[in-house]
Amino acid sequence: MDSAFTRRVAALLERVEDGLQQAARADTAFASEAAGHVIAAGGKRFRPGLVVTSALLGQDPNDDDIVKASLVVELTHVASLYHDDVMDEAQLRRGAPSANRRYGNSVAILIGDLLFSRASSVVATLGTDYVALQAATFARLVQGQLWETIGPAADVDRLEHYLRVVADKTGSLIATSAVFGGMVAGLSAAELDALDKFGEEIGVVFQLSDDVIDITSAVSGKTPGTDLRAGVPTLPTLLAQRSAGPGDARLMELLSRPLADEAEVGEALALLRAHPGLEEARREIGRRSELARGYLAPLPAGEARDALEAMCDAVVDRLA
Ligand code: FPP
Ligand code: MG
Repeated sequence: MDSAFTRRVAALLERVEDGLQQAARADTAFASEAAGHVIAAGGKRFRPGLVVTSALLGQDPNDDDIVKASLVVELTHVASLYHDDVMDEAQLRRGAPSANRRYGNSVAILIGDLLFSRASSVVATLGTDYVALQAATFARLVQGQLWETIGPAADVDRLEHYLRVVADKTGSLIATSAVFGGMVAGLSAAELDALDKFGEEIGVVFQLSDDVIDITSAVSGKTPGTDLRAGVPTLPTLLAQRSAGPGDARLMELLSRPLADEAEVGEALALLRAHPGLEEARREIGRRSELARGYLAPLPAGEARDALEAMCDAVVDRLA
C-alpha cells in the first residue's frame, strides 16, 4: 500500500535509521564498531514503528520529536539486548554473532551502557515527562529480567510469574513506545492511557506468539524448539504442565530440564503439538489481541489507528 501516510512512516523510519547509526559513533573506531554491531544486524524496528504510528494519530506531530522518541526506545532496546546476551551467553543475535561472542562480556556490557547513555541524552532533549517515563520503563525492564533470573517463589503460580516477566521485560518498553508517540502528538491523558494499555498488551501478545511459533514453527526461517533446548518456560509449555493428565508423564519429564539431545527435542515438539495446551495458548493469544484492539476505541479514527488495529490481526495471523 502506497499512500501519503505510509510514505511518511517510511521517511520517518529512515531518519531513525540514520539517527541510530549516529548514536553508535564513539571515541574510538573499535567502540564505534562494537556499538554499531547489533544496530547494523537489523531487527524489526517494531518499537520505532509504534512510536511513529502512534504519533501520527495526532493532527500535527513534530517530525524531529517523533524521530527522537523513536531513537530513545530503540537505543534502550538495543542496549538491553547487549546485556541480555551476556546473561544468556547467547552466540547469535539477529543472525550475526552476538556482541559478547565477538568482543567478550566486558565490552558487551560497556557498550550496552554506552547505548543506554545515548538514549538518556536524547530523552533529556524531549523533556522531563519523557525522562520520567523512560526511567520507570528502565526499572521495569530490569525488574522483569531480575524476576526471570530468580524464578518463581514456591507459592507463586508459574504461569502468573511468567506473564509478569513478559509484561515487564517486553510489554513495558512497547507500551512506552506507543505512549511516547501519543505524547509527541499532544494526545489527552485518556488517550495516552489507551495507548499504554494497548502497547503493553500487544507487546505481551507478540512474545506469546513467538512462544507458539517456537513449537509450531509456523514462520519459515526459524528453527523450532529453541526454548525447549534452553529449558525455558513458555506459554504452551506452562499450559501443558498446568493441564497435564496421567498420559502426559513423558512430556512432563522432557519439560523438566533443558534438552541437549535432538531426538528428545523432536519428541517433545511432537507431544506438544498434539497437546491441548497448544490450542489453549492460541486461544489465549486471540483473546489478548482482541483485548488490545478494544483499547484502541477511544483513539482518533484514521490511517494511524487502522495501522495499530492491523497489528492485532498480524499477531494472530503469524500463527496460521
Ligand atoms: C530479551 O529477552 C531481553 C529483554 C527484552 C530485556 C532485557 C533487560 C535487561 C537486560 C535490563 C535492562 C538493561 C538496559 C541497559 C536497558 P530474551 O532473552 O527472552 O529474548 P531473546 O531471545 O531476544 O534473547
Ligand atoms: Mg536472550
